[in-house]
Amino acid sequence: MQTRVLTGITTTGTPHLGNYVGAIRPAIAASRRAEVDAFFFMADYHALIKSDDPARIERSRLEIAATWLAAGLDPNKVTFYQQSDIPEIPELTWFLTCVTAKGLLNRAHAYKAAVDKNVETAEDADAGITAGLYMYPVLMAADILAFDAQQVPVGRDQIQHIEMARDIAQRFNHIYGREFFVLPEVVIEEQVATLPGLDGRKMSKSYDNTIALFAGGARQLRETIMRIVTDSRMPGEPKDADSSSLFTIFRAFASEAESAAFRRALEEGIGWGDAKQVLYERLEADIAPMREHYENLIARPGDIEDILQEGARKARAIAAPKVAQLRDAIGLRAMSSTHTRSGVSKAASKTAKPPRLASFRDADGSFRFRLLSPEGDELLLSKAFNDPKQAGLVQKRLKTLGGTAATVLTVPRSCVLELDGEVVATGPDYADDATRDAAVVDLRAALDLLAAQEKGE
Ligand code: TRP
Repeated sequence: MQTRVLTGITTTGTPHLGNYVGAIRPAIAASRRAEVDAFFFMADYHALIKSDDPARIERSRLEIAATWLAAGLDPNKVTFYQQSDIPEIPELTWFLTCVTAKGLLNRAHAYKAAVDKNVETAEDADAGITAGLYMYPVLMAADILAFDAQQVPVGRDQIQHIEMARDIAQRFNHIYGREFFVLPEVVIEEQVATLPGLDGRKMSKSYDNTIALFAGGARQLRETIMRIVTDSRMPGEPKDADSSSLFTIFRAFASEAESAAFRRALEEGIGWGDAKQVLYERLEADIAPMREHYENLIARPGDIEDILQEGARKARAIAAPKVAQLRDAIGLRAMSSTHTRSGVSKAASKTAKPPRLASFRDADGSFRFRLLSPEGDELLLSKAFNDPKQAGLVQKRLKTLGGTAATVLTVPRSCVLELDGEVVATGPDYADDATRDAAVVDLRAALDLLAAQEKGE
């Protein structure tokens, strides 16, 4: 079973070494693992809360997408997209907004900090605070819940937001009477290094002490490294590696053996200027090939756009049926909808006629089954199995799966059901995507009914 891991990257600013070591590199390494189904996206709606400069928003999106690709993100393995290409996210944001307690948002750290600052300076408490900042946690909850993400790796400053996403999801589930959302878990990477910046404090844009990852090229990298603050020990005097920023940064890139050699050189009195040159050369060895890739990407923004659009297509294949299911659940249904579903989610498991699984033998002798709706319509047709036992096992699993846990992916005008990453059944062809989306809602409801029946409810 794969774990769905999702994280957002706010598209403001230019990536620096601290971002690379603390976030980009570990996230990409994790995304390569076979058991991880990674969703990485550019949180450009969130960026609007921080910046109203269109040129900056545009530039930052391009630079950040190129940075992640150049750093080794594989868009074939990872679903990589822009938040603003997924219309289901703002739609879900509104559904969630309507169940979110205003008091919960009053307690968000970022909003509270902004209010506190106003109060300190004797301003009106809400001076200069947009509703966007206030709503930030709800938008973030939608980012996560639209995809049923199980794990969300973030920095410590984001823990509260994940807790709020869980709160909001639980509230929605409770009100509408079904486990619509997976409750996401926060993942904090404990081992990753935090890098010191030029002045020895944590490297951060807010301290203006950063070393850019790619911007300015090799020359700027070297010049910035030469500005790292050191103590005043002269060449020939032994230097303490553990209290030196140079060593901390070096170690985040180098092997154990390389780090041991650098430590020895410092202890043996290498001059700070020479030590900085050693650091520069070690960083450049890692960064140069990525920078070349980065510059090639930046020169062809159309290619980046294509990659992101393909990512958005994959992402929407999950979010669109999810949001269609939610629209239905909250009562935003087509008026022409034939079945009056009032109370289906809460009561139907006890009253409605059940959906059925029907096995049959194909003309070529293989074994298949259909999932039929209570009205007898085909919802799914299984693939062909050579072994009737295999077909039976899959049916058994479908009986207990439930609509929320089922991996139903949409394809043009139809849908497929996956178990363990493998397609085991396909929906019929529908007249158009909207009909298909409505059918996916029915399919999930049918799977819920099957599971309820199996539990003897
Ligand atoms: N708020 C996050 C940050 O500033 C970025 C983000 C937006 C995010 N949406 C998300 C992270 C969803 C994880 C999941 O770092």
